[in-house]
Order: sequence, then structure tokens, then C-alpha cells
Amino acid sequence: MLVLGIESTCDETGVALVDDGCRILSTRLISQVPLHERFGGVVPEIASRAHVEVITRLVEAALREAGFPPEAGPPPVDLVAVAHRPGLIGSLLVGLTAAKCMALAWGAPLLGVDHVHAHIYSAAMRARPPFGLVPAAEVLPAVSLVVSGGHTALYASSTWGSHRLIGATTDDAVGEAFDKAAAILGLGYPGGPVISRAAEGGDPKAVAFPRTLLEPDSLDFSFSGIKTAVLYHAKGQDAGRGAPLRPGLKVADVAASFEEAVVDVLVEKLRRAVRREAAAAAVVAGGVAANRRLRARLERLARSERLRVYYPDLSLCTDNAAMIAGLGFQLWEEGLRHDLSLDAHAMTVR
Ligand code: KG4
Ligand code: ZN
Repeated sequence: MLVLGIESTCDETGVALVDDGCRILSTRLISQVPLHERFGGVVPEIASRAHVEVITRLVEAALREAGFPPEAGPPPVDLVAVAHRPGLIGSLLVGLTAAKCMALAWGAPLLGVDHVHAHIYSAAMRARPPFGLVPAAEVLPAVSLVVSGGHTALYASSTWGSHRLIGATTDDAVGEAFDKAAAILGLGYPGGPVISRAAEGGDPKAVAFPRTLLEPDSLDFSFSGIKTAVLYHAKGQDAGRGAPLRPGLKVADVAASFEEAVVDVLVEKLRRAVRREAAAAAVVAGGVAANRRLRARLERLARSERLRVYYPDLSLCTDNAAMIAGLGFQLWEEGLRHDLSLDAHAMTVR
């Protein structure tokens, strides 16, 4: 079953063609990072317009790469899957409208997919040859930790389409904390990879940044405290964001200590969730799941808790359309059906 996936929930336009939920024939992505960088965050109106400008040509490029040039006639697409929630409403509508047009033009069915659920599903996709799927029965039920620039949440996942929210951030998303810490340290954007690079050779115990764990049994997260702690440590007590770095500051130590503190919190929350749900498996997905320090600590957690831990291939951690096409295939197989009246939702509908 050939599925065309479309992703446009935030600041990345993605189109992918995926066979049987796992074999990626082509995947294309255009990031808008350079457009938003100077504003210090994603500007919704700019994002929507940028999606409009590139989406048609991205569909064409993805089809061509998969061996279906438009001049050869309509492609043999069996399903068009689109991320229709959660995200910026204007951005979502661009992808949704494009998906409806393709579905209508090719006579293919249309299916809406939840972007966060697709992150979780990406852990089941073996993205390299020999391609294949990790069987649902092997992974599920599981506790899923989604850690990205826009989302930080824990779910009890029973099927690829049903995820019960059991914990969420009360302020910043963890990826956002990486991005803000990187901005404070003058390391650039996106924060995750640059912090990790800067942390190499740094001492993770050099600075005792706060680990905000909230109530002893809480599965919620809070990352605003550590962000302020990084600011004051790097620039001086009560310093503003624009202040210069303290002379002699060891950026590698700050980056490593920040990473260590954030990873401590993520691992502890996952441990609590797994114990509470008596889960034998965990999925960790989203942009921050690419973090090496986090992966190393998860391996240790897996051994100490006798837990199976699944994460996506590095190429599928950050936003992409292959995971949308992949989950679209699964949900279609599970019997989900939508039609052209499908709407976009800024929030996940529960
Ligand atoms: O999943 P994603 O592409 O977007 C959302 O759905 O939000 O995640 C992007 C986030 C960014 O905040 C980026 O800093 C973070 O993922 N990220 C990382 C790493 N690579 C990307 N965070 C920590 N370590 C990394 N290696
Ligand atoms: Zn995402």
C-alpha cells in the first residue's frame, strides 16, 4: 500500500512516499529555520506562507524521486495521510488543503494523522535496509515519552492510534529548553545538536542545575527553572538575556551540566511512569530522542527496570513526513476512515 504523507504542523514542510507503513521510497523536507531565526521563534503567518510556497513542488519532487514523475500520469498512491493536529492552525491548513487536493485529483482516500502519535509510531519504523516494522505486539502496550521542540508528554499507549495522556509539561517543552539554553550561551539554533556538540569534553557535574521533579508521584514536567538557572549562571544573577557571558565561563561544562540535569529529569519521569503503569516497554520519540546522553541513560534504565526501550532511527527523530505516511498506513489498517470534510485542530483532540 503506497501512502503519500504530508507534514506541515509547524515550521517544516515535509512530503514522503512510504510503502506498507515502513519502506520509505522518498522523503523530502524543507525547514523554515532561516526565516524565523531573527525573530527568536516561529512566526505563524510567515510559517503558513512559506508552506504554501513550497508544498506543491515538494510533492512533485517526492513523487519524482520515488519513480513517479508527474508527466507519467497520476501516481499509484493508495492513501493520502496528512498531519492535521496539533500545530499552528494556518500551517496545518496548508498541508490539509494540499492533501485534499491530491486525494481528490488522484481518487485516493484521505486520512488525518496526529503529529504526536506519528512521532511515537516512528519508533516502529526500521528506516534502513532491510526495511520493516517492529511488530505492534512486540512494542505495545508501552509508556511513550514524546520529547520535542513543541511537546513534552508521557502517554500510556495501547495501539498506534490510542494514547492516554499521563503527564505533560507545565511550561516549556524540553526541546524549547535546549533551544533557549543554546541561545543564552550564544551557540545558535536548533539548540539540541549545538548543546550536545558544545558539551563534548565538558564536565556534567560542574554545575548543579536544578532538577524540577514536582510532587513525588508527579508525571508532569517543568523546564522554566533550569532555563533561568542557565541564564544566571552564564551571565550573572538577575542578568538580562542580552547581557554578555561571564568572563572565563566554561561553556562546555555548562552545556554538559545542563544536558545531564535535563536527562536526569526525563529518565526519572519515565521510570515513574513505567512503574505506575507496570509497563514492560517504553517508546522515546521526538527531536530530543536524538540526544546521545539521553539514549545512553535509557539503556541503563532498560537494564535496571527490565524494560524494552524503542526509539526511532536518528533520521526520523525530528519532524518528517515519513512518520505521517507510516502511521496513516497503520490507522487505515486499523479501520480508521475520514473524508474531505476533515478539519485541522490546533490541539490534540482527546
Ligand atoms: O520533533 P521536532 O523536530 O519538532 C517538534 O515537533 O517540536 O523537535 C525539534 C527539537 C528542537 O527543540 C531541537 O533542539 C531538539 O528537537 N533536538 C535535540 C537534538 N536534536 C534535536 N535535542 C537534544 N539533543 C539532540 N541531539
Ligand atoms: Zn514534532
